Formats: sequence, C-alpha cells, structure tokens
Amino acid sequence: MDKMHKEILFPRDVIARRVQEIASQISDDYNGRELIVIGILKGAFIFMADLIRALSIPCKVDFVRVASYGAGSESSGKAVLTKDIETSIKGRDILIVEDIIDTGVTLTYLVNWLKERNPQSLKVCAFLDKRKRRKISFEADYVGFTIDDGFVVGYGLDFNEQARFLPEVYIIKQ
Ligand code: PRP
Repeated sequence: MDKMHKEILFPRDVIARRVQEIASQISDDYNGRELIVIGILKGAFIFMADLIRALSIPCKVDFVRVASYGAGSESSGKAVLTKDIETSIKGRDILIVEDIIDTGVTLTYLVNWLKERNPQSLKVCAFLDKRKRRKISFEADYVGFTIDDGFVVGYGLDFNEQARFLPEVYIIKQ
C-alpha cells in the first residue's frame, strides 16, 4: 500500500458536491415515491452510503454481489450472482448503485436478472464510468464522473482489496 504511487483524481469536496447533485436529481425524479436502492458489493458501499443520506425521498436498501470471471483483470463477459437481494422488488422503483462501470458486463447481467422480478422501474446510478472500456453497450441513468482508462482506487474502489477506505479517489501511477 505504501509503495502504491498514486495521485488524487477527485478530492473529497469535489466528490461531496457531485454526490449532492446526483442525489438532488434522483430526489426530483422520484418525488413522492419510495426507492429500493440496490448496491453492488463491495465497491459501491461508500458511494451508496453517501448518496442515500443525501436523498430527500425515503428508500430501502439491499445488496447483491456479482463475480465476473476472466483471465487476469480482463472480464471474459461472464458474470454470476454470488449474493442475491433479500427484498421483493415486484412493482417497485429500483435504483442499482455501482462504484464503476468498466466493460459493462456486471450491470448488463444484473439488470437482466432483476428485470425478471418485474419491478415497476429500474435505473442505474454509477459513481464512475469508464466509457471507453465497454465490451457491451451500456448506459447508466446517473453518472458521477466519466473517466479515461487507468486504475483508480479509494472511495470504495480497491486494488487487491487495499485502499477502499480512502475518502478521495486516486489514480495509480506506474
Ligand atoms: C468491479 C466494480 C464493478 C465491476 C465493473 O467489481 O465494482 O462491479 O467491477 O466491471 P465491468 O463493467 O467490467 O463488469 P469487482 O469485481 O472488482 O468487485 P468489488 O466491487 O468487490 O471490488
């Protein structure tokens, strides 16, 4: 960890402002309704905690965990659910919260999985979006920041399980 060369990409105040903006947008869009917010473990838990506390509408929370398999850090395009939600979502308004979209494999799989439960609506909010890395076309409904390729850590994102706890987002320098 100490040997990880990294530079701040998004400091705390920039993150906090953007999270508040997204939360205001979501609160307006769902005015008068109750959301079920589903976080994708592990990376999304910090963003989700900040986001839901900035909402001005009520919500319930649940979590899923999705594993994707491939060689090294590259996704093969296969994903599998290793922890399912514990809430009935039929007829409900669902917001999936993710820390980062990369190839699009995880969210494509999860959206299809959850749609089979017949929610009333289903949208996706991602803190970071690496648009250029897509292998499957996927558009999130709410995005914190669009970023270029590069390894980012902090604010829930890890490198070999390290650095999730950092309150800022850093980019790792080679
Ligand atoms: C990361 C990230 C997303 C997924 C995005 O999860 O949190 O869930 O990869 O990649 P994709 O768009 O290529 O599918 P990871 O498997 O590293 O697990 P973690 O959240 O526990 O760190």
